[in-house]
Amino acid sequence: MWLELRLQIDPRDSDLVADLLAQCCPRLAVEIDNGEEGQPRAFVKIYVPQEDLTALKRSLRLALRFVPLSCTPKWHRARRLREERWHKAWRRHFRPQLIGSVLVKPPWSKKKGQPGQVTLQIEPGMAFGTGTHPTTALCLHAVQKLIFPGARVLDVGTGTGILAIAAAKLGATYALALDIDAEAVKAALGNVEANGVADTVKVCHGTLTPNILQEGPFHLVIANLDRETIRRLGPLMTAALAPGGYLVVSGFLSETVAELTPLLATYGLRHHQDMMQDGWAAIVMVKDA
Ligand SMILES: C[S@@+](CC[C@H](N)C(=O)[O-])C[C@H]1O[C@@H](n2cnc3c(N)ncnc32)[C@H](O)[C@@H]1O
Repeated sequence: MWLELRLQIDPRDSDLVADLLAQCCPRLAVEIDNGEEGQPRAFVKIYVPQEDLTALKRSLRLALRFVPLSCTPKWHRARRLREERWHKAWRRHFRPQLIGSVLVKPPWSKKKGQPGQVTLQIEPGMAFGTGTHPTTALCLHAVQKLIFPGARVLDVGTGTGILAIAAAKLGATYALALDIDAEAVKAALGNVEANGVADTVKVCHGTLTPNILQEGPFHLVIANLDRETIRRLGPLMTAALAPGGYLVVSGFLSETVAELTPLLATYGLRHHQDMMQDGWAAIVMVKDA
């Protein structure tokens, strides 16, 4: 059974709250209902499996405590949803989208890519990474800019596998996709198969550890994680890079860039580019040859 939770917030906070919820609890579908123009309240609707409710509410409350909101959010009672209504809500949430020249679409969409576009079919299952979140979109833009035929790619925190699959379809000859979440691994394996890139993308359950370095070096390392995990894995991600290779990190708000960039530089990387979308950021660093 799925539940619909409604969180009443100030409309000025709706984008920030929806982004934050989607980022910290990727298994949720989040919808914003801004109501009538000029109304002083908006609702963020969250769809969650009933069994996850207590733990999720606890982590959401905690996450919201750290954002400067205009008003304290108010939780409304959960509504039970029939399976069909949940599917309808989810399908409304995930529509095909063109990110650069990559069309990301769910399996139920009939939309076809235009000539010159690369199509990814992504079934999210219980994993993060449909392209609807700005951090995924930023990473997808970076992959399109930095990939070249024959590249070897490491995707740390692959979620649905979207970035590794994109890399494979854009010319990588090997992409190693890691995730600590068994549900994400399941979703990524299904998507790798559905996109016909099983020969190129290897999905593994686990994180980046020193023994993974044997699989490198990689020309591109992508990590859409969170600031703390990026900080922790920074030295290993740097070690995994080939000389001249690029590290793309995302999963944080733009104000974090000023703190993360010098930190990544201490691992021996040079700043290449910052990318921003809707308050979220990605940093591209390069390992000098
Ligand atoms: C924000 S999602 C990114 C998914 C996808 N790469 C994208 O860009 O949309 C982060 C993913 O990283 C995984 N993750 C979190 N910490 C990790 C770690 N230390 N090692 C590997 N995966 C991790 C989570 O399970 C989640 O699937």
